[in-house]
Amino acid sequence: MARRKYIAGNWKMHKTTGEAVALAKELVDSLKGCPHKLMIAPPFTALAAVAPVVKGTNILLGAQNMASVEQGAHTGEVSVLMLKDLGVQSVILGHSERRILYGETDELINKKVILALTQGMEVVLCVGETLEEREKGKAEEVVTRQVSECLKEVSERDLPKITIAYEPVWAIGTGKNATPQDADALHSVIRKVLDTLYRAGIGETVTIQYGGSVKPENAKDLLTMPNIDGALVGGASLKKETFVPIAWFDR
Ligand code: 13P
Repeated sequence: MARRKYIAGNWKMHKTTGEAVALAKELVDSLKGCPHKLMIAPPFTALAAVAPVVKGTNILLGAQNMASVEQGAHTGEVSVLMLKDLGVQSVILGHSERRILYGETDELINKKVILALTQGMEVVLCVGETLEEREKGKAEEVVTRQVSECLKEVSERDLPKITIAYEPVWAIGTGKNATPQDADALHSVIRKVLDTLYRAGIGETVTIQYGGSVKPENAKDLLTMPNIDGALVGGASLKKETFVPIAWFDR
């Protein structure tokens, strides 16, 4: 079965509640009838206000992170139960900004993945090498380790709830995207890792997005590669004028 394209917007630490609601409304209007799977991940503070705007539309509501435990004395953290309560359907985990700026390890991300799945949440699991790792020829090794460690104890039954986002760190927010060929090759490596972790052929069933300077100008070239099933969009997801053409890349 052909995998469905999946375009998601990671709004990162942008937008007040009012700005978020306004953008969500524009997207709901402009993306009506879009055949691809769609998700937006506003900041935590805007989730409650954006939830009713996207409810019942073709746009899923995502969060950008969550705590690794369900509840308790964890000042400043946000629980999966709170996200579910707001109607959040998907959570981005293991983003390189969480790994690099906030010290998140594969082990911690794995705990979050398991908890999200236990609570019935979909996961977008981010992996990707740094520039230094790529220059040392270690991109495949790093991504293999991240996928293997972050999916530890995740059963094959839960795999349909996982999307993997390959986001080379050197391409994030830099304007420098990976070439469609380089990204496709890494996506293919990820499918092989999944075959090894689970069973032959399973890798072909998993949705793998590319992330890193995706914009209207390069979306089609990336999204029509055989192993690239979608995009996790940062900067270009903050404006209707740039996100809508990416989501409609094949119109
Ligand atoms: P940019 O699209 O701004 O490069 O960000 C990509 C990203 O990190 C999405 O999660």
